[in-house]
Amino acid sequence: MEQIGTENGGARVVLFFVPTGGQGKTSLVRDIGYLLAQRGSRVLIIDPHPQPSFPVWLGGEEGTDDPAEPLRLTVAGTSLDVFCVHTVAAGLPGFAAALFREASFVVPRYSSRYDFILIDTPSYPYSLKLVPYEVADLLVVPAETSPKGTWAVDRLLNEFEDLEIGTSALQEIGGYRSSARRELLIVPNRHDPDHEVDRRMVGELTERARPYLLAPPIPAARPIFEGALVRRIPVPVLAPRTLVARRLRSIAEMVAAA
Ligand SMILES: Nc1ncnc2c1ncn2[C@@H]1O[C@H](COP(=O)(O)OP(=O)(O)OP(=O)(O)O)[C@@H](O)[C@H]1O
Ligand SMILES: [Mg+2]
Repeated sequence: MEQIGTENGGARVVLFFVPTGGQGKTSLVRDIGYLLAQRGSRVLIIDPHPQPSFPVWLGGEEGTDDPAEPLRLTVAGTSLDVFCVHTVAAGLPGFAAALFREASFVVPRYSSRYDFILIDTPSYPYSLKLVPYEVADLLVVPAETSPKGTWAVDRLLNEFEDLEIGTSALQEIGGYRSSARRELLIVPNRHDPDHEVDRRMVGELTERARPYLLAPPIPAARPIFEGALVRRIPVPVLAPRTLVARRLRSIAEMVAAA
């Protein structure tokens, strides 16, 4: 029988998580997933939304013959897989089941097939976001360079040590892998260096991130995958020399190296 939190069999499991909505989790899962796949890694994205966003955003086909298997998406010649949890539990009451399933079945089942498993989290209910925490190796925390983003990071950091203690205790009781501490990567997002408040918030996030990893800020920019909505037609998804592309590429490297 598969256990929660058993060895991840090679895949690095990355949970995208922040205590408030709209900070850029889903966008970052998409961008980092795409960039890791583009550099040759095998990538699985777990999409826990009742209305999955990745197949649409990445221009792939919706639906699959076998709902228990991930859906392969090919974007501008780069392939990555998406497991849509909505196929097993739709609607808000299904979130608990969906997230539990991610943690207890999806990750151990697929971890030997992939180099990276990226788990997006829905905005709420808050407590259920933590269900997959136990199987994560790395937490990626996007936060707008605004007071709301700083508030969200504060809230997460207040709980982080507690989470670590609770998770280690659970793993010991269950005889699960005794994992090292999770790494935590804070990613300042939607940054406009022309605004004083944005510059100040980067400073504050840097202060708070000191014991953890801090990514370079992602500029406020139009969503880069807009063009990929033309199905089956390879379209440029990321202008390689833009600042946003360079920043995202260095964040993908940090995710790979953490
Ligand atoms: N760097 C950025 N520049 C401009 N817009 C951005 C940036 N990052 C994200 N956005 C936009 O902000 C909105 C929220 O982003 P996203 O959906 O990725 O956040 P989320 O954390 O997944 O939200 P939710 O909590 O609702 O799931 C989207 O419209 C997205 O296109
Ligand atoms: Mg989202």
